[in-house]
Amino acid sequence: MKILGGRSLQLVYAFLILLHMQSSIGISSTTAGDEVRCIESERLALLAFKQGLVDEYGWLSSWGSEEKRKDCCKWEGVQCSNTTGHIIVLNLTAVYGHGYYLPRLRGNLSPSLFELQHLSYLGLARNDFNFSHIPESIGSLNKIQHLDLYYCNLSGPLPSQLANLTRLQYLDLGYNNFNSVKNLEWLSYLSSLKHISLMENDLGKVNDWQQVINKLPRLTYLSLRGCNLRDVIPQSIPMINTSTSLTYLDLWSNNLTSSTFHWLFKFSKSLVYLDLSDNQFQGLIPENLGHMTYLETLNLRYNQFEGGIPKSFGNLCKLRSLYLYHNNLNGMLPEVIVNLSGCLRLSLEELELGKNKIKGPLPDMIKKFHSLRLLGLYDTQLSGTMPKSIGLLSNLESLYISSNSWNGTISESHFSTLSKLRKLGMSSNSLSINFSNDWIPPFQLDSIVLQSCKLGPKFPSWLKSQRKFSYLDISGGGISDSIPPWFWNLSPRANQVNLSSNHLYGALPNLSTTKFADSFGLGIDLSKNKLEGLLPVFPVNVTSINLSKNSSLQFLGLNYNNFSGKIPTWIGERLSSLIFLLLRSNNFNGDIPLQLCWLTNIMLLDLSNNNLSGNIPWCIQNLTTLAQQESSASDHDFTSSQIDATFGYAGSYADKASVMWKGMERDYGNGNLKNLRIIDLSSNKLTGEIPAQVSVLLELVQLNLSRNQLTGWIPSNIGQMRKLESLDLSWNQLSGQLPWSMSQLYFLGTLNLSYNNFSGRILSGPQIQTFDASSFIGNPALCGLPLTPTCPEAEKSESKPKNRDMDEFWKSFKPGMELGAAIGFVGVLAVKLDHPWKHLCFLLFNNVRVRFSNLKGCLCLLVASLGLLVREHVSRLGRKLKLFEPSASS
Ligand SMILES: *[C@@H]1O[C@H](CO)[C@@H](O)[C@H](O)[C@H]1NC(C)=O
Ligand SMILES: *[C@@H]1O[C@H](CO)[C@@H](O)[C@H](O)[C@H]1NC(C)=O
Ligand SMILES: *[C@@H]1O[C@H](CO)[C@@H](O)[C@H](O)[C@H]1NC(C)=O
Ligand SMILES: *[C@@H]1O[C@H](CO)[C@@H](O)[C@H](O)[C@H]1NC(C)=O
Ligand SMILES: *[C@@H]1O[C@H](CO)[C@@H](O)[C@H](O)[C@H]1NC(C)=O
Ligand SMILES: *[C@@H]1O[C@H](CO)[C@@H](O)[C@H](O)[C@H]1NC(C)=O
Ligand SMILES: *[C@@H]1O[C@H](CO)[C@@H](O)[C@H](O)[C@H]1NC(C)=O
Ligand SMILES: *[C@@H]1O[C@H](CO)[C@@H](O)[C@H](O)[C@H]1NC(C)=O
Ligand SMILES: *[C@@H]1O[C@H](CO)[C@@H](O)[C@H](O)[C@H]1NC(C)=O
Repeated sequence: MKILGGRSLQLVYAFLILLHMQSSIGISSTTAGDEVRCIESERLALLAFKQGLVDEYGWLSSWGSEEKRKDCCKWEGVQCSNTTGHIIVLNLTAVYGHGYYLPRLRGNLSPSLFELQHLSYLGLARNDFNFSHIPESIGSLNKIQHLDLYYCNLSGPLPSQLANLTRLQYLDLGYNNFNSVKNLEWLSYLSSLKHISLMENDLGKVNDWQQVINKLPRLTYLSLRGCNLRDVIPQSIPMINTSTSLTYLDLWSNNLTSSTFHWLFKFSKSLVYLDLSDNQFQGLIPENLGHMTYLETLNLRYNQFEGGIPKSFGNLCKLRSLYLYHNNLNGMLPEVIVNLSGCLRLSLEELELGKNKIKGPLPDMIKKFHSLRLLGLYDTQLSGTMPKSIGLLSNLESLYISSNSWNGTISESHFSTLSKLRKLGMSSNSLSINFSNDWIPPFQLDSIVLQSCKLGPKFPSWLKSQRKFSYLDISGGGISDSIPPWFWNLSPRANQVNLSSNHLYGALPNLSTTKFADSFGLGIDLSKNKLEGLLPVFPVNVTSINLSKNSSLQFLGLNYNNFSGKIPTWIGERLSSLIFLLLRSNNFNGDIPLQLCWLTNIMLLDLSNNNLSGNIPWCIQNLTTLAQQESSASDHDFTSSQIDATFGYAGSYADKASVMWKGMERDYGNGNLKNLRIIDLSSNKLTGEIPAQVSVLLELVQLNLSRNQLTGWIPSNIGQMRKLESLDLSWNQLSGQLPWSMSQLYFLGTLNLSYNNFSGRILSGPQIQTFDASSFIGNPALCGLPLTPTCPEAEKSESKPKNRDMDEFWKSFKPGMELGAAIGFVGVLAVKLDHPWKHLCFLLFNNVRVRFSNLKGCLCLLVASLGLLVREHVSRLGRKLKLFEPSASS
C-alpha cells in the first residue's frame, strides 16, 4: 500500500512536470529513447543528502535540479534499475591516491538517504560524516546486499534497526567511532552475510560476539581487528549450529586469551587465514592449531606463547606464512626446524621466529625449505656459524638474522646463488664478512644492514656493484680505510647511509658535482671516524632543494671526527631541508655562521665540543621548527623506518641519532622523534650574552650552552619555553638573579646553573625546588634552599625581586593560565612568607600538571591570599593583586 502510494504520487509529479515544462518537451522527447527516468522522490532524497554535504572537489556536480541534470540515473555514483527505474546502486566510495582520499565528501549523513528503499548497493567508504550517527531509518533498506561505511567518521550507537537488513551479504562498518556498543544481537539476524568488518571500533563491552558469529552460516570473511574484544566464558557458547564456512578471520590487536581457542577450533576445517597477533595468548601453542589443514597464513605475532612449535605444524601442507615474531618461545632451533619438516617445508614461504628465546644453531636441514622467501630470525638467542646450505634457498628474498650470537665468517659461497636476495640484515652478531675483492654478487640488495659485522679493514669493494639500495648500514664495521671515490656514486635510491663508528680517514673529496639521490631525503652518518680537513661542499644544488620540499639531505652526522676550519656557510645556504645537524666533537672554529639560521627545518643542532667563538647569533629565532608547533618538519612520516626497525634491520638514522640527553648519551627511538628538539652548543668558546630571542624557541626540549664564556643574564622570559625538559648553563660567566619566569618551566627535569656568577635567592617554585644543590653550586652569591638554609639578612632585602621581574610575573599570571603557574606562585609566596602553609601547599599541589580551571587552583590561591593577608607586606602586594580582577585582566 505504502509503496503504491509513493508511486502514484511520483506519477502525479511526473505529469505535473511535463505540463509545466512545455518548452522542454522537445528535449524530453530526445531522451525519450531512454525509457527509464529517475523517480522524483528518490531524486529529492539524493538532493537532500547532497544538501548536508560539503563537496569541495565538485564530485557531485552532476547532481542538480536544473532541467539538464534532472535524470538522477545519470548522476555520478548512481545506477537505476533498467526495469523499475529505482535507484539500486549508490557508490560514492572515496579512492586513495597521492596520499589523500580524493575526492571526499564532508558533512552530515542525512536520513533522507535511506528513503532509497530499493538500494541493493550503498558504498560511502572514506567520506567524512563529521561524527554523524547512523539513522534508525537505515532499517528501511530491506533490499540492500552491500553496505560499505568503512572509515566514514561515524559515531554513536549502532542502531538495532540494522537487524532489518536481512539480505545483506557484505557489511563494512570498520574504522568509525561507534561507542557504547553493548551487543551484536542485530547481526545474528543477517544470515545472508558473507563478509563482515567491524575493525577499529570499540567492542570491549560486547559479550555475545562469538555466539553471534556462530549463527551466520554463510560467513566467509570476518575482521574484528582492533576492537578491544574480550574472551567470552566458554560455557555460554552453544556448540551446535556452528558456521563452517569462515575462511578469513582477523582478530589482530584485541584482548583475547587462550580460552578463545575453544571457539576457534570450530573453524578448523575452513580457515585459510588466521590472524591472532597482538593479543594476550599465553602458554603452549595448542597442538590443534596444526590440524587447521587449510591454513595458508597463520599470524601469532606479539603474544606470550611459550615452549616450542608443535610437531603438528609440520602437517600444515598449505601454510605459506608462519609469523611467530615477539613471543616467549624457547627451545632449540634444530628441534623447531625438525618439527616443521613435514609437508610444510614444501609450502612455507615466510618463517618469522624473531624476538623469541629460541637457542642453538641454524641446522643444515633448513636447505629443505625450498620455497622460503623470508627467513626472520632477528633477536632470538641463536649461535654458531652460518651453514653454507643457506645458499641453497634460491628463492630467498629477505634474510634477517641480526642481534644473535652468530659467529664465524660469511663468505661468498654462502650467497653465490641467492640471486633474489633483496634485504639482508645481519647486524649485531660476531660475524665476519669476507667476500673476495673482485666478487660480484648475483643480487641487488635494497637494504643492507651489517652494523657491527666485521667488514674491514679494507672498505668492502662488493658494495660497488650494489646500485639499488635505499638503506646501507656498515657502521662499526672495523673499516680502516679511506672512502673510495666510487662510493660517492651512490645508489640512486640511497636514503639512509651509515658509515659511522669505523676508522675511516682522510679528507672527503669535492662532491659538488656528484649526483645524489632524488629520493625523499638522504641521511648520511659519517660520525665517529677519523675524517679530517675542511668540509667539502656537498652535492646538493640549491634549485633541487627549492624544487621539492622533500628532496636532498635531511641528516648530516659528522660528529666525532677531526674536521677543522669554519663551519661552512653552504650548510645553511644549500641544505635547507636539514633536520639533524651533528657536528659535535670536531675542531671547527670561528663564528657560528648566520646562515645556520636558514635551517628552518632543523630539530637537532649539535655543535658542541668544538672551538667555536663569537656570539650566539640572535637570528636563532628563525629556526622555525624549534619555534613553532605546526611546522613542515613535524609532518615527516617515519613509519617505513619504524617497520624496518621492527624487523631488525636497524631502523632509521633517527634511531641512531645519539644525543646528549639529560647528561647521558641516549639513543633516540622513532617514537620519540617528534619530541627531539635540541640545541647543544656546549663546550665551545662562545662569548657575549644569551640572546633574548632564544626564548622564542617554544618547542625546544633541551638547551645546552654549558662550558662557554657567556656573560649577562638569563633572558627574563625564558619561562615561556614550556616544553623545556633540560637546561644546562653551567660553567659560564652568567650573572644576575634567576628570572621569576623560570618557575614556569614545569617540565624541567634537568637544571644545571652551576659555576657561574648568579646572585640572589634561588627561586622557590616547586619545580625549581626539586633540584639539589649540585644544580646551583659554584655561584658564591647565590643563596637559599637547596644551597643554604637561609639567605643572609642583608641579602634578604636586597634579593627581593626587582620590580621589573615582579611586574612581569604578575602580568603573566592571569586567571585561566596553567595551574602550574599557580603552584609556582603559591610556592613562591609560601616560602617567601616562610610559613607552615607552604607545606600544605606543596603537599597538595606539587607536581600537579593540570589546567588551572578547577578547585585546586582556587584553593591554592586561597592559601596564598590568606598568607598575604597576615603578613606585613600585605599592603604592598595587595595593590598588585588587583590584577586578578576581571576588568584588569584584559
Ligand atoms: C541496463 O541498461 C544499460 C544500458 O542499456 C546496460 O549497460 C546494463 O547492463 C543494464 N543493466 C542491467 C542490470 O540489465
Ligand atoms: C564503487 O566505487 C569504487 C571506487 O571507485 C570501486 O572500486 C567499486 O568497484 C565500485 N563498486 C561498484 C559496484 O561499482
Ligand atoms: C560538523 O559538525 C559541527 C558540529 O557538530 C558543525 O558545526 C559543522 O558545520 C559540521 N561540518 C560540516 C562540514 O557539516
Ligand atoms: C570527524 O569529525 C570530527 C567532528 O567534526 C572532526 O573533528 C574530525 O576531524 C573528523 N575526523 C576525520 C578523520 O575526518
Ligand atoms: C524492521 O522490520 C520490522 C519487521 O519486519 C518492521 O516492522 C519495521 O518497521 C522495520 N523497521 C524499519 C526501520 O524499517
Ligand atoms: C585486557 O584484559 C585484562 C584482563 O582480562 C584487563 O586487565 C585489561 O585491562 C584488558 N585490557 C584492555 C586494553 O582492555
Ligand atoms: C663461535 O663461538 C663458540 C662459542 O663461543 C666457539 O666455541 C667457537 O669456536 C666460535 N667459532 C668461531 C668460528 O669463532
Ligand atoms: C644539480 O647539479 C648537477 C651538477 O652540477 C646538474 O647536472 C643538475 O642539473 C642540477 N640539478 C638541478 C635541479 O639544477
Ligand atoms: C630571519 O628572519 C627574518 C624574518 O623572516 C628575516 O628578515 C631575516 O633576514 C632572517 N635572518 C637571517 C639571518 O636569516
